[in-house]
Amino acid sequence: MPGGDRAPRRVAASGERADVAVGPDGAGGPVPAGTPVVVLGVTGGIAAYKAVEVCRRLVDAGVHVVPVLTEDATRFVGEVTFSALASEPVRRSLWHEADPIPHTHLGQRADLVVVVPATARFLGTYAAGIADGLLTATVLATRAPVLVCPAMHTEMWEHPAVQENLATLERRGVHVVAPAEGRLAGGDTGAGRLAEPGEIVARALALVGGGPGGDLHGRTVLVTAGGTREAIDPVRFITNRSSGKQGHAIADAAARRGASVVLVTTTSVPGPPGAAVVRVDSAAQMEEAVVARAAEADVIVMAAAVADFRPKAVADRKLSKADGLPEIVLEPTADILAEVVRRRRPGQVLVGFAAETHDVVEHAAAKLAAKGVDVIVANDVAAPGVGFDHDTNAVTILEAGGARRDVPLAPKGVVADAVLDTVAARLQADPSSAPEGSQQRSRS
Ligand code: CTP
Repeated sequence: MPGGDRAPRRVAASGERADVAVGPDGAGGPVPAGTPVVVLGVTGGIAAYKAVEVCRRLVDAGVHVVPVLTEDATRFVGEVTFSALASEPVRRSLWHEADPIPHTHLGQRADLVVVVPATARFLGTYAAGIADGLLTATVLATRAPVLVCPAMHTEMWEHPAVQENLATLERRGVHVVAPAEGRLAGGDTGAGRLAEPGEIVARALALVGGGPGGDLHGRTVLVTAGGTREAIDPVRFITNRSSGKQGHAIADAAARRGASVVLVTTTSVPGPPGAAVVRVDSAAQMEEAVVARAAEADVIVMAAAVADFRPKAVADRKLSKADGLPEIVLEPTADILAEVVRRRRPGQVLVGFAAETHDVVEHAAAKLAAKGVDVIVANDVAAPGVGFDHDTNAVTILEAGGARRDVPLAPKGVVADAVLDTVAARLQADPSSAPEGSQQRSRS
């Protein structure tokens, strides 16, 4: 299973990785300690030309890139281009190498395998476990994380066979950068256009950058998750449909990207390894936990669905039918995000969520301004597959200053990384937020 039993290797400048990766045929030469090795698979689609840019940017970011092209890929892009830009010459076949088992060695050397673009054929072959070439053999032979970046015509992308293959791969732990909507080959427009190279590179770097060397290394990220529960009596409470999955996905992604994570959650779901997890129930408890830890946080992400109202009086004994119909009087809870904004220190990045059912972006933009946060993540919780209790989400990320990024329907982990990409970019852009004694790595 990709990445299933292996922690991502470090990218740290400190060079703590002592091993030197080299192909048995010597093709790659030695890789300096601490340099991540990324196998860049390119399959045969029009978008293959964008893989050239991905290759260049990964090399610029300090990654050792080993290009593997399928035969069909070479119909779209030249082998020489990749050989010139990458860290090693292109490999194309299981049979042309001096090395009799190139897929095994590539799989073992890789800290990450990225496939750009991933065609419908590649996804199907990989999902079916068929090793019919060097690239498909390598993704089956590796224990490193695998990131696939599909690109194809809308009709193919939306075909149940393709979607089911992708769902199978995701279930097995394969990471996906979903395609965007836009112009496609032949002048058509629709879903299926390869994600932008910058987004692919950011995800790839995040995947090889876990632990020290990740782009959030040296930062403390405080995340809230789940719906609060406001007691009526010892056994009853008022709550909402939030599952906490999005908040937990953000905590997981932040930890993977090297942050110290403080997770304040109403759920019983485990937090990421190493995180400080504070279990709370009510808005008042969440407020206390967040306020107590806000000063130490470089980033605060309020993903929790905090109740706006709570019963004014909580019965100390279970209400009984025999006592007649109770009248529950509500009072407002404290606005935790507003409190965090009041206490903000220079350089802190504050992120709110806006769960809306209509006029989503307009309402979220109004909240961004009214709440004085840096980023608002808007989601239409009434849309299918989006928001509360789903494993997928679709959001619009709005930043103070006007930037906007739409993240189409994707697993919550993908949305989490998109939110953290925005956060990391803001941290890097603001010199007053630089972590003491730590050097931030440029991501693309
Ligand atoms: N929030 C908070 N404390 C509250 C209510 C909300 O910190 N008492 C945070 C949420 O975690 C979220 C953001 O504020 O990050 C926006 O929450 P939302 O419920 O969408 O907005 P409200 O300000 O409560 O406005 P409304 O419910 O009227 O849409």
